[in-house]
Amino acid sequence: MKIAIPREQRPDEARVAASPETVKKLINLGFEVSVETGAGLGAAVTDEAYEKAGATIAPDATVAYGNADVIAKVRRPLPDELRGVKSGALLISIVDPFRAGDELGPLQRSGVTAFAMDLIPRITRAQSMDVLSSQSNLAGYKAVLDGAAVYGRAFPMMMTAAGTVPPAKVLVMGAGVAGLQAIATARRLGAIVSATDVRPAAKEQVESLGASFVAVEDEEFKQAETAGGYAKEMSPEYQKKQAELIAETIKKMDMVITTALIPGRPAPKLVSAEMVASMKPGSVIVDLAVETGGNCELSEPGEIVETGGVQIVGHVNVPGRLAADASALYARNILTFIDLLVDKESKALAIDWEDQIVAETCIIRDGQLVHPALAPKDAPPPAAEAATPEPPAGEPETEPESGPEPGSDKPSGDKQGG
Ligand code: NAI
Repeated sequence: MKIAIPREQRPDEARVAASPETVKKLINLGFEVSVETGAGLGAAVTDEAYEKAGATIAPDATVAYGNADVIAKVRRPLPDELRGVKSGALLISIVDPFRAGDELGPLQRSGVTAFAMDLIPRITRAQSMDVLSSQSNLAGYKAVLDGAAVYGRAFPMMMTAAGTVPPAKVLVMGAGVAGLQAIATARRLGAIVSATDVRPAAKEQVESLGASFVAVEDEEFKQAETAGGYAKEMSPEYQKKQAELIAETIKKMDMVITTALIPGRPAPKLVSAEMVASMKPGSVIVDLAVETGGNCELSEPGEIVETGGVQIVGHVNVPGRLAADASALYARNILTFIDLLVDKESKALAIDWEDQIVAETCIIRDGQLVHPALAPKDAPPPAAEAATPEPPAGEPETEPESGPEPGSDKPSGDKQGG
């Protein structure tokens, strides 16, 4: 078996899909590993480090792909990126299939069998493969640092002979993996933190990290979590009540960090232009959802927008801004997924297509889009929530964990009182 690790082609992508540690383990699994020269440089891994781990260095991607049975990448390949790939090779990457648009066609025609790491089901057995968790956790941490970097004040309260510096008030919107890590990070820096979410399970998690919970806790809120643990799109009535509560809260905040997502749908708009205008000059908004439409009406992908003295930070690919750690965790996610596809005795690929993890991540097989949530728009939906990645084949074997720290990728912020 041969596996290729190419250099990422997208300009904003510094991550890489293998680390020296995972190269060694892939070799133990029976792989010959070919790494494209320079693939690890954005993540501070040299060709020499890969060679020392046992990989061979290929001068370009086409050479790396030659005869490869598996290609492990970070991001979905660009339309002309897969030249030289063997028909039937397995391509494993973050695909972002619901926003891939025309880029899925070239992938289908390239002859690969494609797996989307971002569709790994949220079940206990798959926790170590869960790239959304490993990457969102880092993004939540980095969002606070990115906000702090443009905030012209300090986070902690400081009592000095020259007077008292008040603590920053931070609101985190969306308390999933990224949001919980943002809460923990802002708390560690000394801010007074509050957070909001539409999933009732989030309340206890937020409070356990020492933040206060702000939400409209009505009947709809009590039902607002899907079986897979994700948020549902809320009714216009709920959104209106939520907006009123947030409008009152946001005026008093120094920093707002938004992380709210609904799988397969545009990000909910939670911070309107009027809310931004109500904030004090010097306040900062960090919009982690900017790539899926943004939680803030005024955020722009890749920019820091300033309006009325409020800065709105819209960095894209935030995990990629911590490329060394993000790559190390992603590489381990990839390794555990590949481990599932290999027969340890014969050291050959042996894919169980019925396995829930395999079935729910495979999006292209034999040139066809095989994932139920990616069925053509005129075809009948496979289930009631067909537009989200929730309903693919089979029931989850276990419910998602509800606590913030069951897996190593979960936020593990200090539990501080008050
Ligand atoms: P996500 O990235 O899809 O969304 C981020 C957060 O935004 C979620 O908490 C969501 O409820 C919230 N949100 C959506 N609409 C909102 C609105 N209008 N206002 C406020 N907040 C809104 O979520 P993520 O981080 O992927 O986590 C989803 C769930 O999956 C969580 O319950 C998490 O604990 C669980 N999980 C389970 C794992 C497992 O293996 N068992 C692994 C990782 C996460």
